[in-house]
Amino acid sequence: MKDTNFLKENNARRLWHPMAHPADSLANPPDIIVEAEGVEIIDIDGHRTVDAVGGLWNVNLGYSCQPVKDAITAQLGRLPYYSIFRGTTNDNVIELAEMLAAFFAPDGLSRAFYTSGGSDGVEVALRLARQYHKIRGEGGRVKFLSLKKGYHGTHTLGASVNGNANFRTQYEPLMPGCFHTPAPYSYRNPFNETDPERLAQLCLAAIEDEIKFQDASTIAAFIMEPVLGAGGVIPPHASFMPGVRALCSKYGILLIADEVITAFGRTGSWSGSRHWGVQPDLLVSAKAITNGYFPFGVVMVADAVADVFERDTTGKGAIGSGYTYSGHPVGAAAAIACLQETERLQVHLNAGARGDQLFAGLQALSARHEVIGDVRGGHGLMCALELVSDRASKAPIDKKTIGKVHRATYEAGVMIRVSGNNIILSPPLVVTEADVTKILAALEAGFSAL
Ligand SMILES: Cc1ncc(COP(=O)(O)O)c(C=O)c1O
Repeated sequence: MKDTNFLKENNARRLWHPMAHPADSLANPPDIIVEAEGVEIIDIDGHRTVDAVGGLWNVNLGYSCQPVKDAITAQLGRLPYYSIFRGTTNDNVIELAEMLAAFFAPDGLSRAFYTSGGSDGVEVALRLARQYHKIRGEGGRVKFLSLKKGYHGTHTLGASVNGNANFRTQYEPLMPGCFHTPAPYSYRNPFNETDPERLAQLCLAAIEDEIKFQDASTIAAFIMEPVLGAGGVIPPHASFMPGVRALCSKYGILLIADEVITAFGRTGSWSGSRHWGVQPDLLVSAKAITNGYFPFGVVMVADAVADVFERDTTGKGAIGSGYTYSGHPVGAAAAIACLQETERLQVHLNAGARGDQLFAGLQALSARHEVIGDVRGGHGLMCALELVSDRASKAPIDKKTIGKVHRATYEAGVMIRVSGNNIILSPPLVVTEADVTKILAALEAGFSAL
């Protein structure tokens, strides 16, 4: 490793950071993280913090998960790469597909298509949805519906169904045929409705209205996160996702669950779809599938959808999607070990209990700090604080003030994530009660610094 002075001097000078303005990275150089242990990260100055971001929603088992590290090391020695494009495969992807089919059986999903990450998975799922309809002779079904506030990665099709202007405006024109409906976001919504259940019904009515307006025979799929994540952790009312499922079934539209962050236990259930009692037609996952240690993703396919492809005799079912790193043997080895550890530790149970502790603590925090306009969570280890400069008008807090909270919380021993006027918390699913107490204490220090 280059020495500390070199690294600090050159920080952000020759690289552009994702989701950051290059000028801002130069003016406020990022923290240089050099080590990690358990649920903590350590920066170049030796400052140790509990990682309440969990990497980026992905390090569910923490940074010291030896079985995943060992699996990666062993696989690098045995077979560091081979492709699974037509004609070849590897032992790991076969074994992993069996494990995933068992894991996702309650979600009605039985086939795996591997990708290198979440954005790739979203792209594949949307493409497969169109293809499914074409194989069945409904080639007019090409449009996609999605939720405002949704995040589906930044590939162009994904950005087109993405519901946040930050990822869209500078990259327009995006793909035609993508339409957005209101999010079940009770703090701010066009219906001025604060009751989550009534809001869910209004959002469902808006979806049905859009389906009728577009004509169902032109719509391929509805893509949604079971709990909107990057858009600010927005859990819908329990009736919402089942309602979307019912509308999709009624109008012959495929339901794609984007579970890049919710699969493998984060919501307190093994999948976000299961959390709401819904079976999607396609499910996208990535991130925690390897505990973040290797870039890897998967699209899981329901039996009925798989049947259409597998029974096709016209050639239309040939899959024209795939990546060099689809089914990477090292990623698959990591995923096998990770899934075994995830199930052995039953992390969804801890996510539920610690998520409740975190949510209750955040609510208490909001009683003491006026800048907290909304507290969201209550479904596992995904929570958000939405900050406002004035509770009555709900005017979003300015960047400088939320930056101050971030800095002071970091100094107090906890890394949090700032996204717009939200603080997003998504710690590893193996955090202890003491870790959550520490997160809350550091946030208290962060807000007290204002
Ligand atoms: C719901 C959702 N979909 C897709 C993505 C994109 O995944 P990736 O960053 O691995 O491409 C993310 C990333 O945070 C996500 O949260």
